[in-house]
Amino acid sequence: MSSHAVARPMIAYKSGPLTGEAHVPGDKSISHRSLILGALSVGTTTIKGLLEGDDVLDTAKAMRAFGAIVTQHAAGNWSVDGVGVGGFCEPDTVIDCGNSGTGVRLIMGAMATHPIRATFTGDASLNKRPMARISDPLALFGAQTYGRSGGRLPMTIIGAETPTPVRYEVPVPSAQVKSAVLLAGLNTPGKTVVIEQEATRDHTERMLRGFGAEISVQITDAGREITLTGQPELQPQDITVPRDPSSAAFPVCAALITEGSDVLVPNIGLNPTRSGLFTTLREMGADLEYENERVEGGEPVADLRARFSQNMRGIEVPSERAASMIDEYPILSVVAANAQGDTVMRGVKELRVKESDRIDAMATGLRANGVTVEDGPDWWIVSGCGAQAVPGGAKCASHLDHRIAMSFLILGMASKNPVSIDDGSPIATSFPIFESLMAALGARLEHSQER
Ligand code: S3P
Repeated sequence: MSSHAVARPMIAYKSGPLTGEAHVPGDKSISHRSLILGALSVGTTTIKGLLEGDDVLDTAKAMRAFGAIVTQHAAGNWSVDGVGVGGFCEPDTVIDCGNSGTGVRLIMGAMATHPIRATFTGDASLNKRPMARISDPLALFGAQTYGRSGGRLPMTIIGAETPTPVRYEVPVPSAQVKSAVLLAGLNTPGKTVVIEQEATRDHTERMLRGFGAEISVQITDAGREITLTGQPELQPQDITVPRDPSSAAFPVCAALITEGSDVLVPNIGLNPTRSGLFTTLREMGADLEYENERVEGGEPVADLRARFSQNMRGIEVPSERAASMIDEYPILSVVAANAQGDTVMRGVKELRVKESDRIDAMATGLRANGVTVEDGPDWWIVSGCGAQAVPGGAKCASHLDHRIAMSFLILGMASKNPVSIDDGSPIATSFPIFESLMAALGARLEHSQER
């Protein structure tokens, strides 16, 4: 949420059937990367379908502060006149990335091998999140970082004057860390190597290749080994941003749990590093079809059709699938509450350091609404009430976390009693049209006055 937003309490009533088409916004991960790589290219990159959520708008502002010309021509249509690799200038103001871990971490990586200084901050949620996972590898390139205790923002980075290439094994499954190291490797002579044990979203690798960088991926015993040759001249691109599977998850799951629903969510990217939720839902017995499967811009794409699914069963989600659905556990837990039996989610400790502690936020709100949830450091189990059988009736805290806010509103659409949230304003970070899109499908959402 933007640091100045006012809390907006909201309430969701039993809804349905949900019907029609849901055109969700552009992919958040690809939108950030389009702006950053556009800024590091020489010439004009055009972007169609950019997500105009607060997170991405903060990244656009940051790219301007580092010297790029970033222009909005029409809704979703943007251009970036880049300064080239090595061309970032020193910002004359603090870089405020709002709520966005992706924005701040990728930008810190990109600037850390420029001979400039910058200070980064964010909102109350972002300033609590761990940044040592970024500052540690950036120090290996020669950058100096000065954060608050515990490696938190605000943080000042003095970029390396003569960066040295690194070979870095990412200690946590994180595309943000991997991407920060690769972006730091861009303005570093020689080869930067990043190794990840588990495959995380690979948009940075794909897009760097698209912008003309020399980058290769090898599967070794240690995992995926990515090698980037530094100091390329990146070529500007014409990018069409695919629609976000993480946003698609909300209307899809709402349709699955709301009686009589039949919703089509067109043009969703099904990159295997992002589509774990849809596989999981199908294993639970969801009536979820991929229609019109095709390849667009090198990425698998389909239209998703989701229908009310009365007999979904809880499953054990394979922990090796976690990285491919890491942002989708909150909404999965809502589906799990509407399924029969237990849904077991293990190997998910990263959920504790997202925009909020997502296990704690969801477990607390689900329990308040009559659902049994057990949790431990890196696991949680939701015991389903069955279709349309969650009691509901409670108010939940969204903890400055867009996905927590949207998940509880969708819980309310299928519960016996309304579910309210203390603040819907964070939804604007990733899905600014959530409310109108869900209302057009038939969801009963309202703003409540009560604080
Ligand atoms: C993202 C990576 C993920 C994800 C975030 C977007 C990205 O974070 O949770 O919403 O665009 O690289 P981690 O890399 O920290 O897991």
